[in-house]
This record gives sequence, structure tokens and C-alpha cells, in this order.
Amino acid sequence: MCDEKVNRCECINKTFEQLKEFPDFETAQAKTGCGLECEGCVPYLKLMFASGETAFDIEDERLSSYQ
Ligand code: FES
Repeated sequence: MCDEKVNRCECINKTFEQLKEFPDFETAQAKTGCGLECEGCVPYLKLMFASGETAFDIEDERLSSYQ
């Protein structure tokens, strides 16, 4: 069983909780570089700013709206 949640940008090693301090995705990216390396966290980051949540299922069904 895999119950691991996606809760950080691995590339810059910052949690979504930390990145949520910024007002929006663009500002967080400009200030920290999150989402610029592998880009794997980008849909999760966008969903985080939209939903306010900071941990997601790897296959969260809402992700398709935030590619
Ligand atoms: S996990 Fe965020 S850019 Fe790689």
C-alpha cells in the first residue's frame, strides 16, 4: 500500500506548507524557484494555491485542471 502524499517541491526541498506563505504560484516560483527543475510539482502547487490544502494524493482527481 502506498499512502504517501505529495507535500513538497523535492527539487528545492520546500514543503507546500512553506510555499503557501506566498500569495500565489507565480510569486512563490519567482522567490524560491519552486517548480522550475523537474516541474513535477507544478500541478500540485497550483492546486495548493487554489484549494489551500498542503498535501495531496499522487493521483488527486482535481489535478487534471491544473496541468
Ligand atoms: S519537485 Fe518541484 S521542480 Fe521538481
